Amino acid sequence: MSNVIEIKDYSWKYLNTSTPALENINLTIEEGSFVGVIGPNGSGKTTLAYSIDGLIPGQYNGIKKGTVNVFGKEVEDYGRGELQHLVGVVFSDPEAQFTAMTVEDELVFGMENIGLSIPEIQERLDWVTELTDLGPLLEKPPYEISGGQKQRVALAAVLAMRPKVLILDEPTSMLDPMSRQRIFDVLVRLKAEENSTIIVIEHSLEHLVRLAERMILMSDGSLVLDDSTRNFFRQTDFLLEKNVSPPGVIGFFHELSRIADYQKDPPLDVEEAHARLQEILQRGNEG
Ligand SMILES: Nc1ncnc2c1ncn2[C@@H]1O[C@H](COP(=O)(O)OP(=O)(O)OP(=O)(O)O)[C@@H](O)[C@H]1O
Ligand SMILES: [Mg+2]
Repeated sequence: MSNVIEIKDYSWKYLNTSTPALENINLTIEEGSFVGVIGPNGSGKTTLAYSIDGLIPGQYNGIKKGTVNVFGKEVEDYGRGELQHLVGVVFSDPEAQFTAMTVEDELVFGMENIGLSIPEIQERLDWVTELTDLGPLLEKPPYEISGGQKQRVALAAVLAMRPKVLILDEPTSMLDPMSRQRIFDVLVRLKAEENSTIIVIEHSLEHLVRLAERMILMSDGSLVLDDSTRNFFRQTDFLLEKNVSPPGVIGFFHELSRIADYQKDPPLDVEEAHARLQEILQRGNEG
């Protein structure tokens, strides 16, 4: 598999700040992988997303060290708008992204901008509308829909560009549990059907751990843990030290390992936890 993103010895300090927002980052992301990024407020997650889609150094002033390569080319060597075709980013505040009078126009506008043919636009419009379940909202003005619906439109608008790399920066921060589930359902399909490379920055770990095959923890501008999701949560003591509270089932089994000498790795979701508990109860009954 080829690497779509290669970040080497990379640091970034915003102008007029005293400490770097990112410091000495080394990170490689393979094509088709699904990576979860977590970390406390201000740890540099959004700055990392900006650095991959070229907003940094394009739109921000600051001091850069090291290199950020996307598809084998340094981000600053891409022409204007070129990198945005390859890397789509959905930010948590979608308001700023809307310009059209209806949701449908909003989706079509971006596709026209990159010069797609009318049949291609129609095909992609149908695809994203179905995928993100936006049918009932297509005729509405973007400013008359709810915050959660806006997040879905923002996701659809980015997906319509069919980026090879998709970065979601807290895409479900405004969503109720059902809508959050729907966004993650979309990601499940993208992963299965499109082989997209997906990076999700998200506080809601419950959904993330079921999808991400790799997890990254940021802290104070550094990448402090980077491992397969299973190995990542083997280090629950370290995570707790860094103020990350693991999802319910993982926390529960971690506690179990502490008080009852339970040696196995924690399960990553409820189904797995259910199987483990059955195993434990079975043993209890036999013993
Ligand atoms: N435009 C900016 N100018 C100056 N400093 C900034 C700017 N944007 C972010 N920073 C600083 O860079 C650091 C990292 O911020 P960043 O937004 O990347 O963190 P984050 O992990 O995304 O946080 P959150 O979880 O709150 O979204 C912080 O110290 C922040 O104050
Ligand atoms: Mg952020």
